Amino acid sequence: MNNRPVLFIDSGIGGLTYLNDFTARNPREEVCYTADCKNFPYGPREKEEISSILISLTEKLLKLADPKIIVLACNTATISALEPLRKNFPDLPFVGTVPAVKPAAGASITGKVGILGTARTIEDPYSQHIAENCETRAGSQSEIFGIAAPELVEFIEQSFDKADKNEKKEIVKKYIDLFRAEGVDTLVLGCTHFLYLLEEFRKEAEPVIRVFDSLGGVTKRIEFLLDENGRKLRVEENFKPAHQLFLTEKDSSDSLWKNRAEKLGLKLSFV
Ligand code: DGL
Repeated sequence: MNNRPVLFIDSGIGGLTYLNDFTARNPREEVCYTADCKNFPYGPREKEEISSILISLTEKLLKLADPKIIVLACNTATISALEPLRKNFPDLPFVGTVPAVKPAAGASITGKVGILGTARTIEDPYSQHIAENCETRAGSQSEIFGIAAPELVEFIEQSFDKADKNEKKEIVKKYIDLFRAEGVDTLVLGCTHFLYLLEEFRKEAEPVIRVFDSLGGVTKRIEFLLDENGRKLRVEENFKPAHQLFLTEKDSSDSLWKNRAEKLGLKLSFV
């Protein structure tokens, strides 16, 4: 039971930021990463479609990797499929990634909370619902300003590796200007892809707008589940975990993904 991997899933590279955070704190745990490049991007799809994609992907991954925990390192996947996945696989613990609306709303003074995510995440009532149920720092109710940013997802997935400083700054500035014009004072990065630009977002937004993400919260939740019921890895001193990368499409075995796998020390295979 214990020596099984923790498996992270996203449509592309976004969830790797979560995997990196987890492995930095838990270097002895074995991890697998699945990039569902065949169905990338999830953002424009309907909830039901994302759900059925993830249910059949999970079935295959259970046979291939036999994970002890699955982390949906994707806000869109979590909002669309976390409940159906839990229903379909009741014995497997799932960790979801949702926009960090609660801390952002709690820290807001203007009561205007910005969220940047995919169309599916922004359209979903989840963020509004959380915001309605928590007070701002000024003791009032918060208001959500959501912006769907499919081109930012695309930029990170396809161009981030080769983009220069200026390109990154420019694309981030475009969104910060929109939020600033709305009087937003806290901003939630509600898509795991956007974490690649966390530093740029902070530079452009702060101190007027504080930027929030759910990275630390997700890692803590995985660690909690590992501790619970003794799921934590038990290994001998010199154990070197064999991390794996699964891609859902052979065509995407281009140099981009090969390089990423190499850089991260992940063994590449296909689902
Ligand atoms: N990384 C995903 C998220 O956190 C979205 C990317 C996509 O549209 O596939 O929502």
